Amino acid sequence: MKKLMAANWKMFKTRDEAVTTARKLVELVSGKLPDDREVLVFPPSTCLHGVAEVFESAEGFSAGGQNFYPASEGAFTGELSPEMLKDSGAKYGLTGHSERRHILRETDDFVGDKTTFGLKKGLRIVLCVGETLDERKGNKVEEALERQMRQGLKDVPTETAPEDISIAYEPVWAIGTGEVAGPKEIEEAHAFVRKTLISYFGEKASDIRILYGGSVKPANCGEIIALDNVDGVLVGGASLDGESFSEIVLAD
Ligand code: PGA
Repeated sequence: MKKLMAANWKMFKTRDEAVTTARKLVELVSGKLPDDREVLVFPPSTCLHGVAEVFESAEGFSAGGQNFYPASEGAFTGELSPEMLKDSGAKYGLTGHSERRHILRETDDFVGDKTTFGLKKGLRIVLCVGETLDERKGNKVEEALERQMRQGLKDVPTETAPEDISIAYEPVWAIGTGEVAGPKEIEEAHAFVRKTLISYFGEKASDIRILYGGSVKPANCGEIIALDNVDGVLVGGASLDGESFSEIVLAD
């Protein structure tokens, strides 16, 4: 299984800035990317086409859409379909990010609708799950993860190929705060996610990638990526700069 080194650019960058960063990243990483790693960037939708074009000739790089609506077309003002993301060059789609859950008020159920629909339309999906600080303090980490995974995967066919679905464990209190979960917290959560995946998908769940996200940076990525059941990272702030993200991608 290839480790998935993913960047989430959130609502940052104009088209020029995105293409310049994508080119820089390819320049810094090309020829050095280990065979067992893959690079994925989620730019804003307005930059998706430009970034995907840069990655077309770069082996091991792909682009994804940060958001989509679970329908192919229709009267959904402001939304984009999975087909539209694919038409702009996306291979992946992101669902369940905590900012969409908490700021845009997406429910567990809606996240499940998006995950299933995106997969059905041929996007590989990275489904984010993670507990809030209150849930961690109240010893409810597993309860929160179990609920988000049960709802997030509710209609996902069990015959889905393992490389088409990944889970990103992102503790909400570690996102954009500079506070990283400790190795023990990460390994415990990832082991629980693996166990839950096995109960859903059976043995092939050992080939489903589980990413860690939350204040990953060049200085801590090597340690995190070496932990048990960590099959990649999802990086926000430290992915915006090409040099910084290239160090993360190549970290050992
Ligand atoms: P961060 O964001 O790396 O800035 O903490 C991670 C994410 O939101 O995916």
